[in-house]
Amino acid sequence: MKKTFDGKTIWITGASSGIGKALALELASYKTHLILSSRKVGELEKVAAECRKPGCKCSIYPIDLADPENVTTTADKVLSEIGNIDILFNNGGISQRSYVVDTAVDVDRKIMEIDYFSGVILTKKVLPGMISNGNGHIIAISSITGIFGFPLRSGYAAAKHALHGFYETLWAELHEKGINVSVVRPGRIRTNVSVEAVTGDGKPYGIMDHGQDSGISAETCAHKILKGVHRRKVMITIVGKEWLMIFFKKYTPFIFYKLVSKVQPT
Ligand SMILES: NC(=O)c1ccc[n+]([C@@H]2O[C@H](COP(=O)([O-])OP(=O)(O)OC[C@H]3O[C@@H](n4cnc5c(N)ncnc54)[C@H](OP(=O)(O)O)[C@@H]3O)[C@@H](O)[C@H]2O)c1
Repeated sequence: MKKTFDGKTIWITGASSGIGKALALELASYKTHLILSSRKVGELEKVAAECRKPGCKCSIYPIDLADPENVTTTADKVLSEIGNIDILFNNGGISQRSYVVDTAVDVDRKIMEIDYFSGVILTKKVLPGMISNGNGHIIAISSITGIFGFPLRSGYAAAKHALHGFYETLWAELHEKGINVSVVRPGRIRTNVSVEAVTGDGKPYGIMDHGQDSGISAETCAHKILKGVHRRKVMITIVGKEWLMIFFKKYTPFIFYKLVSKVQPT
């Protein structure tokens, strides 16, 4: 993986926690320049301090992915101060724990802004530099809810489905010009994602779900993502027993539709 990551300028959103933090810590073992973004600057500083120990260069650019203007100005700042980005991880995101009937439309919009549009803005900002260099890699962290809808996840599943359409198209348009695109589809990963998830009125859910707590570790997930990126895989799927639902959806949809409303959503 040295060849893929050594000497690269790599921007990770959602680097303060979970999968983004684990990506940063593993990438720090290469000779990379890491750009770490999210809202919690104190947490980013702790991650950056860890990353600098093995000698990695690290810059922090706070960002609010819910605010398109802030995403745009942050991207302009990064590009003017750092220069071209070689690899972008559109990782930052929030999940949801609320039924459709209980969810305010503003909450659906907020999820879409954070989980979908912020990555679209950043992608469009870094692409011209990648195209002029003739190489680059953009990675979108989707979810298995980008493959199938799931109770309590309507806005989240919608945003993750949207990612698939956008990034598959991007791959089709640009892979022959040296721009790689990967969509990552994790199942349950042990992070704060359920604690930070929004409820129907936009307030935090605040609970570590059993499903989350018994999931794959963020470090294992990050390592699998980096292996997939190294192999230039378009789809990177990281699942435990959730593979069954993907299988049913694809090959025996009638079983999938019998099961999907019965699977424990928390
Ligand atoms: N964990 C899972 O089971 C799982 C499964 C499938 C997909 N995913 C996806 O994996 C990605 C990372 O999530 P995670 O599991 O690592 O959860 P996490 O530990 O809660 O991390 C989420 C990250 O996103 C950042 N973030 C959230 N809202 C933001 C905002 N408005 N502006 C800027 N940054 C924001 C958070 O940083 P700040 O709070 O500092 O802003 C944090 O660094 C997400 O896209 C998630 O949908 C997770």
